[in-house]
Amino acid sequence: MKTSQRIQKMGEPALLKYYPLVSEAQKKGKKVYFLNIGQPDIKTPAGFLDSVNCIDQEVLSYQAPEGIIELRQAACDYYRRLGLHYDVGDLFVTNGGSEALLFTFIGICNAGDEILTAEPLYSIYKEMAAATDVNLVGFKTYAEDGFALPAAAVIEAAITPRTKALLMTNPGNPTGKVFSREEIEVMVKLAIKHNLYLISDEVYREFVYDSQDYLSPAQYDELAQHFILIDSISKRYSACGARIGFIVSKNKTLMNQLKKLVQMRLSVSTIDQIGAVSLLKLDGDFFDGVLKEYTCRREIVYAALQEIPGVICKEPRGAFYFMAKLPIKEASHFIEWLITDFDYQGETVLLSPANDFYLNPQDGADEVRIAYVLNGEDMKKSMEVLKHGLAAYEKAFPEQCK
Ligand SMILES: Cc1ncc(COP(=O)(O)O)c(C=O)c1O
Repeated sequence: MKTSQRIQKMGEPALLKYYPLVSEAQKKGKKVYFLNIGQPDIKTPAGFLDSVNCIDQEVLSYQAPEGIIELRQAACDYYRRLGLHYDVGDLFVTNGGSEALLFTFIGICNAGDEILTAEPLYSIYKEMAAATDVNLVGFKTYAEDGFALPAAAVIEAAITPRTKALLMTNPGNPTGKVFSREEIEVMVKLAIKHNLYLISDEVYREFVYDSQDYLSPAQYDELAQHFILIDSISKRYSACGARIGFIVSKNKTLMNQLKKLVQMRLSVSTIDQIGAVSLLKLDGDFFDGVLKEYTCRREIVYAALQEIPGVICKEPRGAFYFMAKLPIKEASHFIEWLITDFDYQGETVLLSPANDFYLNPQDGADEVRIAYVLNGEDMKKSMEVLKHGLAAYEKAFPEQCK
């Protein structure tokens, strides 16, 4: 029996690729630091489970497909604190930011339509595009200049009659890039000039370092009919398992159509929605503490990477990832070898090969993404492991090194 061409076009799930090897290594007693995935170790605020424990329902029923009103209202209040004015009719609760993205792709594109975005990109966008017959088109950005956007003319040259949307990830995964006001304005102007949607994936909104102002296309009233905000509580409140996200837009025609998709999947988890209400009510103190912790981790990793010969990276300004060039030719081979053949004092690290974050898998072959999602002590140890790993790899495979 055949499977669809659509599903065959989708890549191997990158997240799962190394797990059988990791589980073998763990069985042999090796400790593995997981720096390959954006799963923070910060405690989920207690309010989540407190609210869940107080649920007084005899039947765990479906909820309104758009999401429970308490959560939609709490989201509007949260946006209001950021200076953004949405009402409950402007947003749906989704199963994570992932479902918000998927529904957006389905809702705005016909088969063969294009969505234009910066590379490197969040790898799951590629799978979403393949699953929805969308062509993802990239324009390159580079570590050397902090992943700055190219000139507007370069982005504009990639717009075709099939382009339906510009997609920006701010702050960026895997780059840690935070868009400047000028860059946001480039995207806003292009979206309006070419009558495109502008999708802004802001799931890392609160992770912005060095006292930068957080800016969003959401602040541009003239963009309102073009703008779609993708949001999630996963990273912001360290609640990845709660599976709560939002799709937000003031475009009523779009939201009326998207209603069909939220109705199709009936409901988002009742328990997760009730827990999430308490998270969205948390004030700035919570984020201040989290930001301090991540700032410290970022400094630890940056200092350690600078000490390792041949490693090239810039300090990221947002999210919790480093993109680093290593003095090797094939990061995917190195990453696998770290798990299967290497340990430093019984420990090793799992990293992400950066070619997952490019449309052409030949790109980024010598780069890795490091997620600084573990506590400072563990980040220090894992950087030590990486340093020794690179030295040992050079001895074992000189032809694979630069
Ligand atoms: C840029 C970006 N967008 C969206 C998501 C989806 O997150 P979730 O489905 O957990 O809300 C992620 C998760 O890593 C991400 O990094």
